Amino acid sequence: MTATKSSGSGAPINVLFVCLGNICRSPMAEGVFRNVAASHPLIGEIDSAGTGAYHTMEPPDSRTMSTLRKHGITDYNHAARKVTKEDFLTFDYVIAMDKWNLTDLLELREAVAKKSGNDKVADVRLFGDFGPGGKLNERVGGGEVVKDPYYGGVNGFEEVYKQVTRFSQGFVEHLEKKQQN
Ligand code: 4NP
Repeated sequence: MTATKSSGSGAPINVLFVCLGNICRSPMAEGVFRNVAASHPLIGEIDSAGTGAYHTMEPPDSRTMSTLRKHGITDYNHAARKVTKEDFLTFDYVIAMDKWNLTDLLELREAVAKKSGNDKVADVRLFGDFGPGGKLNERVGGGEVVKDPYYGGVNGFEEVYKQVTRFSQGFVEHLEKKQQN
């Protein structure tokens, strides 16, 4: 990873999606967001990671990949990795799928901010905090959660796909609105 956090300097915005295992939800979010934000001038590096290391170096779950393929996203690949403290300095946004991820990420953020200064550290948000029309939930973590589909059927993955598609659009709209102000 050679990206550097843009710090509001007009440089492209780097985005990291995070779930627990980095094999189901955050790769779905990454694959969809890459598609939604393809070549968008505001967006820089896009990646995903897990708060746990259980599946390090594994490819995404086959149900994530088949759901992406079903929706025409055929060029995505990824190897699972655990989120690092360094990520909070290279990404502008670290985006959680559920409240467990969010709590873990806010704790890590706090530790990095103590050392590096609050303004240098990524914004941590729940993906569902980004609503339609670019509206940002006033409370961090106040939005919709993306539930873990791992132990369920393929329908759960379809639901994850629909949610992350909506949130990706809301997030891009939010960044566009922010840029205009
Ligand atoms: P994810 O789903 O956090 O959406 O990648 C999970 C995948 C695997 C496990 C937990 C959640 N696991 O415990 O193995």
